[in-house]
Amino acid sequence: MSGRTFAPRVFSGIKPSGGLTLGNYLGAIKRWVAMQEEDYETIYCVVDLHAVTVWQDPADLHRSTHEVAAAMLASGIDPERSILFNQSQVPAHAELGWLFNCVARVGWMNRMTQFKEKAGKNAEKQSLGLYAYPSLMAADILLYHATHVPVGEDQKQHVELTRDIAQKFNHDYGVEFFPMPEPVIEGPAMRVMNLRDGSKKMSKSGESDMERINMLDDADTIAKKFKKARTDPEPLPSDVAGLADRPEARNLVEIYAGLADTTPEAVLAEFGGAGWGTFKPALAELAVEKLAPISTEMQRLLDAPDEIDRLLARGAERAETIAKPILEQTFDIMGFVRSRR
Ligand code: TYM
Repeated sequence: MSGRTFAPRVFSGIKPSGGLTLGNYLGAIKRWVAMQEEDYETIYCVVDLHAVTVWQDPADLHRSTHEVAAAMLASGIDPERSILFNQSQVPAHAELGWLFNCVARVGWMNRMTQFKEKAGKNAEKQSLGLYAYPSLMAADILLYHATHVPVGEDQKQHVELTRDIAQKFNHDYGVEFFPMPEPVIEGPAMRVMNLRDGSKKMSKSGESDMERINMLDDADTIAKKFKKARTDPEPLPSDVAGLADRPEARNLVEIYAGLADTTPEAVLAEFGGAGWGTFKPALAELAVEKLAPISTEMQRLLDAPDEIDRLLARGAERAETIAKPILEQTFDIMGFVRSRR
């Protein structure tokens, strides 16, 4: 794209499906809070329409939606400074999502590694929504003309697909309407790994609770999980090159760096040569120090769901004032008759 410039605007989202993990915190929420302080308009969304691409028990969906909103608020997302809402309360997401289903190509969807991982050998039995999910994600982002999308490493391919959709739309209709959003994937711990298997991502849906730290875990549970985290027998190296073939060690060092707001180099400068008996308790202590105030505040908010609902309703109204005109212009560009407005 050449001429048109877009105001710096951040959009990002989290699915309310199951509990939140340390991966969600370090890969997303913590950085969202920091981006509020920078020169962006910031829009953060509980993407409930994405959650139902796999089965969600209605009561669980309801609770998870509150939990994700509570996590964002408790971590420092300011509902005045940022727009915070849940996706299904702004119908324009689903509408633009449909239009993008007609822009995106089947071949593009077939390349999405997350679908392949989630669907496994059972692709035929998955919902059509799970397959089309990346085009709804593109709609989430482009509905606000967002320019920056802070996500963990696992979402990079979806943001790239968003750029492909924007580009094809602009090209097909001969317009410079949608921006090319940038994924923002910066700092350590952009891919927090499973504590039991350093080759797998830490996720909300993994089999065993021992493989992840949940944002609502208490201090004892956090300490126990780090203590039992898989590692090799070697002490920590003194520089990052020494982590090359040690995925579990690297993961714990990156988690420490992410929590402490420092670099893996700095962590190793402090702990190089130390054994796990020293490092794991230090890591657990740091995690508890950072997460305990957040989980306490989350619990307080979860006991007042009406307060969360009010904030989400207000956020959805603010989101819609941006989203609706962009959706209407999209309909106009495509030639739809919109005589009701
Ligand atoms: P979701 O709900 O799986 O994850 C939310 C955010 O947390 C990050 N994350 C991680 N980061 C580092 N290490 C991990 N182990 C880890 N696990 C999760 C994710 O990268 C993500 O940033 N499709 C998205 C939600 C979405 C979205 C959007 C994001 C829908 N529309 C528009 C950005 C913009 C998802 O399923 O994220």
